[in-house]
Amino acid sequence: MMIRFILYVCLLAFLAGCKTTNAQETFEVGKNTFLLNDKPFVVKAAEMHYPRIPKPYWEHRIKMAKALGMNTLCLYVFWNYHEPEEGKFDFTGDKDLAEFCRLAQKHGLYVIVRPGPYVCAEWEMGGLPWWLLKKKDIRLREQDPYYMERVKIFMDKVGEQIADLQVNRGGNIIMVQVENEYGAYGVDKPYIAAIKDIVEGAGFTDVPLFQCDWNSNFENNAQEDLFWTINFGTGANIDEQFRRVKELRPESPLMCGEFWSGWFDHWGAPHETRSADELVSGMKEMLDKNISFSLYMAHGGTSFGHWAGANFPNFSPTATSYDYDAPIGEAGNTTPKFFKVRELLEQYLGEGETLGEIPEAIPTVAIPSINISEVAPIFDNLPEAIESEHIQSMEFFDQGYGSILYRTTLPEVEEGETLLITEANDWAQVFVDGKHLATLSRMKGEGAVALPAIKVGAVLDILVEPMGRMNFGKGIYDWKGITEKVEIQSEGNSRELKNWKVYTLPSDYAFASKKNYEELTTIPSAAAYYKGSFDLDKVGDTFIDMSTWGKGMVWINGHHIGRFWEIGPQQTLYMPGCWLKEGENEIIILDMDKPKELRLAGLEKPILDQLTGNGAYTHRKFDQELDLTGETPSYTGSFKPGHGWQHVDFGKKEKIRYFTIETLDAHGGDDYAAIAELEILGEDGKPVSRQHWKVAYADSEEVDEANNLATNVFDLQESTFWHTNYSKTKAKHPHHLVIDLGEEKVVSGFSYLPRAEANKTGMIKDYRIYLKMEPFKF
Ligand code: GLA
Ligand code: CA
Repeated sequence: MMIRFILYVCLLAFLAGCKTTNAQETFEVGKNTFLLNDKPFVVKAAEMHYPRIPKPYWEHRIKMAKALGMNTLCLYVFWNYHEPEEGKFDFTGDKDLAEFCRLAQKHGLYVIVRPGPYVCAEWEMGGLPWWLLKKKDIRLREQDPYYMERVKIFMDKVGEQIADLQVNRGGNIIMVQVENEYGAYGVDKPYIAAIKDIVEGAGFTDVPLFQCDWNSNFENNAQEDLFWTINFGTGANIDEQFRRVKELRPESPLMCGEFWSGWFDHWGAPHETRSADELVSGMKEMLDKNISFSLYMAHGGTSFGHWAGANFPNFSPTATSYDYDAPIGEAGNTTPKFFKVRELLEQYLGEGETLGEIPEAIPTVAIPSINISEVAPIFDNLPEAIESEHIQSMEFFDQGYGSILYRTTLPEVEEGETLLITEANDWAQVFVDGKHLATLSRMKGEGAVALPAIKVGAVLDILVEPMGRMNFGKGIYDWKGITEKVEIQSEGNSRELKNWKVYTLPSDYAFASKKNYEELTTIPSAAAYYKGSFDLDKVGDTFIDMSTWGKGMVWINGHHIGRFWEIGPQQTLYMPGCWLKEGENEIIILDMDKPKELRLAGLEKPILDQLTGNGAYTHRKFDQELDLTGETPSYTGSFKPGHGWQHVDFGKKEKIRYFTIETLDAHGGDDYAAIAELEILGEDGKPVSRQHWKVAYADSEEVDEANNLATNVFDLQESTFWHTNYSKTKAKHPHHLVIDLGEEKVVSGFSYLPRAEANKTGMIKDYRIYLKMEPFKF
């Protein structure tokens, strides 16, 4: 009996021991607080995306988050990263999501998982796989049967990988998100409910499920059985952001689902930064009020390969660097912001929490010169052609990424006829008999080329380089290559070109490396692959300076490290040392344009803020001045002070194409005007589509201290805004912003969203609106 008793006690002790090594915990939404193991808990989450970090550095970045003072990591799962081809899943190696979660647990961090299916995140197509677009009539982010079927299959796979890592099963996952900011897309509660069921069906049944949205629109899709979080950026008025949630759910804990520490860069637009002091003061305010948050991003990393997305409306591709001006720099380095955040969080450690040591920095190296010795021009290295009567986008030739060449023969063309391409996504070069005729950029809305006289039978080549698929709003339907047709137009006559030879040029390393490389003697005049090598006696992180190169992609030792483009602001590409080796290393560059010089080197510091557009990106031509003489305002009004949307009814309906707002003064008495978002209301009082909008004119824009371009008024982002110049010209009221709707619309009013920050300049007071069918005079 005694022996049995002793054995029994030993068994109990053994089981207790098991429990401590694989402790099961609980995480719940309590009354005005989260409860971790029944105790109040404030989530301090660091957002980072494992695909944006080389795997050998995962642990380093996790330690950096711990050293920042965080208790949780927040991550997205990018569907297209794990299911590159329909039905072919990959969660191994660099894509081992479960491994990343377990590493976080090893370092005492909890994990919030955001498996989409749509995620935004400045990631190709917002995380949706390109092959969904092979179904021409697909309805994305809606209850399209095929879309939903694929979502379910994907989500089940995610569940297989990590559902067992929920806290109460011995893992570290404390929350799972359903969809992402659906309010910025539409109103569809049944769809969100269906996605919630799919997430639960994948096994995420043990931890709170939540939604994230903007304060201004979360009610549109808010589900009774989901926890609500609100997303906003540095400088936002925090009480105001949570006012409505508090009214509706007075006993809910509060959480900022994404507190934007910085922002992402667009090609051709100024580098984005956000103030460290404002970031820290916002975090402090939330901590003092027991508000949980996730810092988006704590570490942005890099959108390697072809993974950077693009914004919408106004197609605006995102840079390769996703540094985000986050506290942990792109290369995992500390920054002044890092130390400020760490100092703050050190004072707010919860029970049992410790501040991690800052891990040793990863060494950097300079590579003085990289020798480019071989070249393979694209036109001499074409793969086999696919014949196609009609032109189609690349998806219908089963191509997801890379470039595509369309070739046909021309009929006789008279001088002055136009080549019209509908639509070339995103950067197209037109050649006739091998001679470069024009370059068309979707960013500038270009699609037409004036033709010279051409003899019948000449060969037309259209070489199209897509950038990332749009990851925002209705832009996610972003077919690449040429989407509809190519015509030769003259007055009253149009001839559609047919019988194409199509060459797909994927962006894989295998394709780029297996070209017929020849010794490089002169720089070819058109797109080419370049190959070179460099020797290292010591490896470390480096930044490849691409500033003398045109536009394209780079592979080093088989790793696709991303896109470059001479327009900037990013001029260097992050090359992680873990992908370099001692001895000889290989580099391949695809330049779709051509290099000015063959200079190439690795720098110890990145260059992320050099635009080469000479101010061409602002919306006022040199000396241009809007002339309103003889124009009568259609409406005169005065905005209320404070934040949040304001809606204005003109009291009449008018058919227009151009909209001008003239600001007369600001609530703070300052000289500036700022607008975060602007909607124009149609006949039915609902916002009209902004898809074809262009800024026809903005009298003044701040582009040196910040990216305050006027296009920010319709980028669908509440935290970005147009602000008139304050660093140089300091122009005064009246300020003018002219929008070309791109199409005629009957309008009845407009809605205005002021910038969200407390006590800031540019809060417009009195204004006049001018509406016209004809363009304004300058
Ligand atoms: C939103 C999205 C994120 C990201 C940020 C901007 O909040 O939810 O995925 O796109 O905007 O960086
Ligand atoms: Ca905006």
